[in-house]
Amino acid sequence: MAFLTNEDKRTCLCAELSAEHLGQRVCVMGWAQKQRDLGSLIFIDLRDRSGIIQLAFDDKTDREVFDTAFTVRSEFVLCAKGVVRCRGEEAVNKNIPTGGIEIFVDELKVLSSAQTPPFEIVENSNVNGELRLRHRYLDLRRPDMQRNIMARSRITKLARDYYDANAFIDIETPNLIKPTPEGARDYLVPSRVHHGSFYALPQSPQLYKQLLMVSGFDRYFQIARCFRDEDLRADRQPEFTQIDTEMSFVTADEVMNMHEGFLKYMFKNFFGKELEGDFVRMPYREAMDRFGSDKPDIRFGFELNDLSGILADCGFRIFEDAISAGGSVRAINVKGGAKFSRKEIDSLVEFAKSYHAKGLAWLKWPVDGDISSSYAKMLSFEKNEEIKAFVDAQAGDLILIVADKNKVVFDALGALRVECAKRLGLLDPFDFKFLWVTEFPLLEYSEEDGRFYAMHHPFTSPMDEDLQYLDSDPGRVRAKAYDIVLNGTELGGGSIRIHSSEIQKKMFEVLGMTEEETQEKFGFLLEAFKYGVPPHGGLAFGLDRLVTLTLGLEDIRDVIAFPKVQNASELMSKCPAPTDPASLAELGIAIIDPKSDN
Ligand code: AMO
Repeated sequence: MAFLTNEDKRTCLCAELSAEHLGQRVCVMGWAQKQRDLGSLIFIDLRDRSGIIQLAFDDKTDREVFDTAFTVRSEFVLCAKGVVRCRGEEAVNKNIPTGGIEIFVDELKVLSSAQTPPFEIVENSNVNGELRLRHRYLDLRRPDMQRNIMARSRITKLARDYYDANAFIDIETPNLIKPTPEGARDYLVPSRVHHGSFYALPQSPQLYKQLLMVSGFDRYFQIARCFRDEDLRADRQPEFTQIDTEMSFVTADEVMNMHEGFLKYMFKNFFGKELEGDFVRMPYREAMDRFGSDKPDIRFGFELNDLSGILADCGFRIFEDAISAGGSVRAINVKGGAKFSRKEIDSLVEFAKSYHAKGLAWLKWPVDGDISSSYAKMLSFEKNEEIKAFVDAQAGDLILIVADKNKVVFDALGALRVECAKRLGLLDPFDFKFLWVTEFPLLEYSEEDGRFYAMHHPFTSPMDEDLQYLDSDPGRVRAKAYDIVLNGTELGGGSIRIHSSEIQKKMFEVLGMTEEETQEKFGFLLEAFKYGVPPHGGLAFGLDRLVTLTLGLEDIRDVIAFPKVQNASELMSKCPAPTDPASLAELGIAIIDPKSDN
C-alpha cells in the first residue's frame, strides 16, 4: 500500500477528461471498476464520482508499474499518472463519454487494496435492499446512487439561492425542544441534569418560526431536520428534511405564489426547461369530489361521479342503503379498462376491500364481445343506461362503483383510480403535474376518540368567513391552509397562522384543552402574542420527497444517504441499540421489561 506525497496532485476527475486533453500528462485517483489482463496488455477502468476513464498498460510500460497494475482488483483505490491518448479504433467504447480516450500510465500507486465487495458496484443493481443498506457506503458508490445524492445537493443549493434572493433569512432553530402536546410521535431525549424531564426532537420548527415572525425577522428559511416517530412508508422516514419557511404580512395567495416561484426556479435550473403556466388551485372539497383524495394525481382522468342522485330508488339494496345511511354511491370510468381480465378485476375488488369498501361493483364493456357486470342484473335496463351515460362510458371502458360511507367511497375510489392508471401504464414519472389544494377543513373529528383534531396543526388560521362557526359547528370551518401536490404526493404544506391570542385560545378550547393545559403547554406562545404579532404564514416542503419525485424515483430511501428501514432501524450501524447501565443510571432511567408485571 502506498501513501500520497505532495507530488501526487490530482489534476482532474476521471470523466472530466476529453479529447482536449490529448497529449497532456494527468493525474487521476479513484476506484478500480475492473481490471482486464490480456497478457501483454492490461486495462483498468478507474471510477470516481464523475464517471470512468480507462487506464492502459502495455509492453512499453515500466516493468514495476506493469506488475503493480497486474495486482489490481476491483475496488482497489489507485493514483495513476500518465499521458492521455486516443484509443485504437476497435477499442472505442461508445457507451461512456470518455470512451474514445485512455491514459497511458507511467506511474501507479495502490492507495488501498479491497476485499471482494458483497455486491458489484454497478448501475441499477438488483441486489436485495437489506444487503445494500448493511453496506450503504458501498451502495452509495454505485453511479445511480451517486447521481441521486449529488442531485439532492444541487436542489438544496437551488433552494438556498432562491430563498436568499427573495430576502429570506436562514435561521437555525433548536433540535432539543419541549415535548409537544399531541406528542405521541415525538422522539424523546432524557435530560441528564433534570432527572425525569425530557426534551423532544422537533417534528418541525413550527412554533419557533412563528416566534421569529414575532421577533420581526419578516422572512425565515431553514433546511430543517425533522423527527417523527410514525409508521414508515415509501415516502416517509422517521428523520427527514424540510425546506421550511415563514413570511410576515402576507396572505395565503402570496405564500403560494412565492413557493410556486421556487418550484419553477428549481425545475428551470435543474432540468433547463420551464414548467408551463400557473399551478391549478383547487379547494379541498372539489379535490375530494373529483378525485377522492386531498392529494390528487391529475396526470390522468378517471374522475369520480356521484351517482347517488340517480340511484336513490334504484331497487338495489346495497346502493339504496348506502345513500339512505348518509353515504353515497360513486363511480369512476376507467377508460380503456375493459382490457383487464376477470382475474385482474377480481384483484381490483380485493384492492377496494383493503380500503374498507364492503365490495366493488363493476361493469366491463369490451370493444368486441358482451358486456359483463357484477351489478347490471340488479338494476333496470334504464338505470343501467343512465349510469353509462352519467359516467360517459363507451366500448372499451370499465365502470367501478363503490357504495358506502363517504370516507370509504373516497378512499377506495381515490386509490382505485391511481391503481388502474398504474396498471394501464399511464403514469409517466417525468410528466410533472403540480397542484395546490386549498381550503382544507380546520378540524377533523375522530369517532374513536370523540373529539376534534387539527387537520394541519393547531396554529392554522380559520378562514375569516367561517370563524363564526368555530363554536357552533367546528366541523364546518375551513382553514387558510394549502398543500402543494405533485403527481399524487403531498410535497409540502402550510397555512396562514392564527395571530390573535384570543382565537388561538379558542382553538385550543375546541381541541379539548383546558385553560391550565393550554398555559402549561403553550403559555410561551400566548405570552408572545401579547406583544404585537404580524399576520404571518408559511410552508414547508419535504426535501426528500421533492428530490425523489424530481428524479422520477419511488422510494425516498434512494435520495437519503443513510436512511432507516420499515421498523425505524438503521441496518449498517445497527441502531437503535441498548445502552449500558451506567449511562442509564446517570440519566435516572430504568428499563422495565415489557413482559414483567411492573
Ligand atoms: P407537514 O407536517 O405537512 O407540515 O410537513 C411538511 C412536509 O414535510 C414532508 N414530510 C415528510 N417527509 C418524509 N418523511 C416524513 N415522515 C414526513 N412527514 C412530513 C411532507 C410534508 O408535506 N410545520 C408544518 C409546515 C407549515 O405549516 O409551515 C409541517 O411540518 O412533504
